[in-house]
Amino acid sequence: MWPTFKGEEWDKGMDQFAEKHFLVLDQFLPPLVLETVCKYFNSVEAEDRLKAAAIGPGKERTRISEIRSDFVHWLDRPLMPELETFFEGMDAIRASIAESLFLSLRGYEFHLAKYPKGAFYKPHFDQFNTRENRMISVVIYLNENWKPEHGGALKLHRPQVRLIEPVMNRMVMFRSDTVLHEVLPAHETRRSLTGWLLKHPATVGVLGI
Ligand code: OGA
Ligand code: MN
Repeated sequence: MWPTFKGEEWDKGMDQFAEKHFLVLDQFLPPLVLETVCKYFNSVEAEDRLKAAAIGPGKERTRISEIRSDFVHWLDRPLMPELETFFEGMDAIRASIAESLFLSLRGYEFHLAKYPKGAFYKPHFDQFNTRENRMISVVIYLNENWKPEHGGALKLHRPQVRLIEPVMNRMVMFRSDTVLHEVLPAHETRRSLTGWLLKHPATVGVLGI
């Protein structure tokens, strides 16, 4: 099962997050959970169930391919029992982060994301002006043998400049409201499981994609 996200290492990570607004942890998912997520990703891809991503909340959502060109598949817990171990782990992590950072985090939302060759996401914040629900962004990368020449790094611009390579089972979390970030053009297919810890529970269907 998942580590408990307690103890000295975790506390150190939470301190770093509070100070720098981001944290990178490698070997994040336990091997069996990682395998399940990768299998699920493969089946979604094989069935062509990833959709062109859009920008903005609710009705204002639009697809602007000059801003982002990835494809996503939203996770819906009741419909995906095979991912239950992932959701159980996220429940524990959400609770642990909320406790460590004295935050109210009452939900989360996750999607699979695929950046085909040449895809990118221009600099942006993850918190929308009209919907301030997203508190912390969490990205888990699913790319075996990723090399720097494959591009596709996550670039944090503010408050810290940092390049993060999307290597297998690396997790990066950052504040959705303060961290300006972008995905540099990927020269190979780039896969991730990306989500947000939310102040209020997720409202199913609002995103509509
Ligand atoms: C996003 C995003 C970062 C990444 O989906 O909003 O910024 O590294 N993703 O995939
Ligand atoms: Mn983002």
